[in-house]
Amino acid sequence: MAPGAGSVMALENVSKVYGGAVSTIALNGVTFDIKEGDFASIVGPSGSGKSTLLNLLGALDRPTSGKIYINSHDISLYDDNQLSMIRNKYIGFIFQAYNLIGRLTAIENIEIPLMVRGIPRDKREVLAMQSMRLIGIEGLRNKKPTFLSGGEQQRVAISRALVAEPKIILADEPTGNLDSINSKVVMDALIKINKEAGKTVIMVTHNLELANMTRKIIRIRDGMVEKIENVAW
Ligand SMILES: Nc1ncnc2c1ncn2[C@@H]1O[C@H](COP(=O)(O)OP(=O)(O)OP(=O)(O)O)[C@@H](O)[C@H]1O
Ligand SMILES: [Mg+2]
Repeated sequence: MAPGAGSVMALENVSKVYGGAVSTIALNGVTFDIKEGDFASIVGPSGSGKSTLLNLLGALDRPTSGKIYINSHDISLYDDNQLSMIRNKYIGFIFQAYNLIGRLTAIENIEIPLMVRGIPRDKREVLAMQSMRLIGIEGLRNKKPTFLSGGEQQRVAISRALVAEPKIILADEPTGNLDSINSKVVMDALIKINKEAGKTVIMVTHNLELANMTRKIIRIRDGMVEKIENVAW
């Protein structure tokens, strides 16, 4: 059955088994949905399946069984080209390790998703500046990553995830390398892109204090949904 109105992502009885000499059941019958404009966090012990889940939500991988809908497209049986089309159209990623290119300045890093789309240079610059302004980092424009703090690098990565206007932002431990002050700055940026830019944000985190600032907390244990809490804002 297709997901209900307002759902931007939905999983139905999703399982993921990794092969190899010994197979691992990373996810086992996961069902939930994410509404447009939601800010959700995924929490759970190490090895419980959080990154596996985020990779499936981000169309980086296919489930072993079950269905995954992204903006009403059932992607469970998509081939690699179709998955990549869905990623380009709908999803921006933020990782724990920032993944910025060292020889490029902040603004050049932010322009990368636009280059991939063949957008001309002057337009790329305008869009990258807009994205930096939203996050409040326009002053970092010509700095290279080695001259930025961890929190600044992660905010450049957030601007890069936003620049091509995806509907959905997925973040895997975005504050995992940061101290508490920088974690707060990055969290504020995520709250801002959710509230002001209207993006749907899904974040994996070990930090319960940050999870408590999101609208929906999805608790995963042993590859299963243990509990979903909806927090009133
Ligand atoms: N590519 C892979 N091949 C085989 N097993 C994998 C692979 N990726 C993850 N696993 C296994 O699947 C299970 C879930 O891993 P996953 O990375 O999703 O956990 P996690 O909740 O993100 O953990 P952490 O909090 O440590 O990041 C683990 O048992 C892990 O060893
Ligand atoms: Mg993980």
